Amino acid sequence: MLRAHDRLRPRIRTIDRQYNNLEKVRDIDRFITSPYDSTLRAKSEDLGVSDDSTPLEEQIEAQYRRRSEPRAPGHDVSRAIRAERHRACQEFLRDLEPLADRTLLEIGAHRGANVPYFLGWGFRADRITLNDIRPVLNEAKSKLPVGICVIVGDAARLTIEPVDVIYVGMVFSSILSHSDRVRVAAGIWPLVKPGGGILWYDFTWNNPWNRDVRGVSVHEVARLFPHARLASRRVTLAPPISRQSPLWLYRVINACPLLRTHRVCWLQKT
Ligand SMILES: C[S@@+](CC[C@H](N)C(=O)[O-])C[C@H]1O[C@@H](n2cnc3c(N)ncnc32)[C@H](O)[C@@H]1O
Repeated sequence: MLRAHDRLRPRIRTIDRQYNNLEKVRDIDRFITSPYDSTLRAKSEDLGVSDDSTPLEEQIEAQYRRRSEPRAPGHDVSRAIRAERHRACQEFLRDLEPLADRTLLEIGAHRGANVPYFLGWGFRADRITLNDIRPVLNEAKSKLPVGICVIVGDAARLTIEPVDVIYVGMVFSSILSHSDRVRVAAGIWPLVKPGGGILWYDFTWNNPWNRDVRGVSVHEVARLFPHARLASRRVTLAPPISRQSPLWLYRVINACPLLRTHRVCWLQKT
């Protein structure tokens, strides 16, 4: 089991697709600064990935065209993994309760599959804004709850009013170039209200079989958000192990935090 874990690396998995209904879509030009500005690109550090001059929108579209979904763990194990992640998220949000009074922006929302979870945590639909760089989010808008605002465009160029919480789940691992990561981090940090924060979920390891994603270590998270107060928890048993495990074995193995490949981070703006 451990050898399998060493050999294989985590791949991006989808969260359950849960769609409801939506109504409100705003004109994105009001919320996205124009046009793509390559001068905003920060100097790249040598992290073993060369920075590409292709605009991020095109890179991400190309990655998603190539992509195939890895096999998910069994139903019970998937549910336990999700519950573990949500517990960590909710613990970090405790100081902001009641969440019904708070505003939330999800960047990299894909089709909005996380919305049911946000509502379950206590956020209200009319205080949730979803953003994705790809138009796929617009295609899903009719299935999202009434009141949710959808903005398609690069999160680095969003110009909305600051919010209490920005949720960033599995987004930076799909941004391969370091300079784009820096640019997106610098673009979203001003969108957090003082006292609020960025709720981060992503994996920390690289996957040699999937060149379209790159892990983000907790040290890199700290460097991307140098002004944040960072707290983090290890979550999510390594997918190559969890895929093979019945629930009882998952519980035993997951007791070892070092075998968890993802982190939930709370990046608080003080
Ligand atoms: C792996 S999906 C994660 C979806 C969802 N957040 C989740 O937790 O399941 C990553 C998403 O981030 C989006 N994305 C990547 N870079 C982005 C950027 N700069 N601005 C907005 N969305 C971005 C991609 O288009 C993709 O839909």
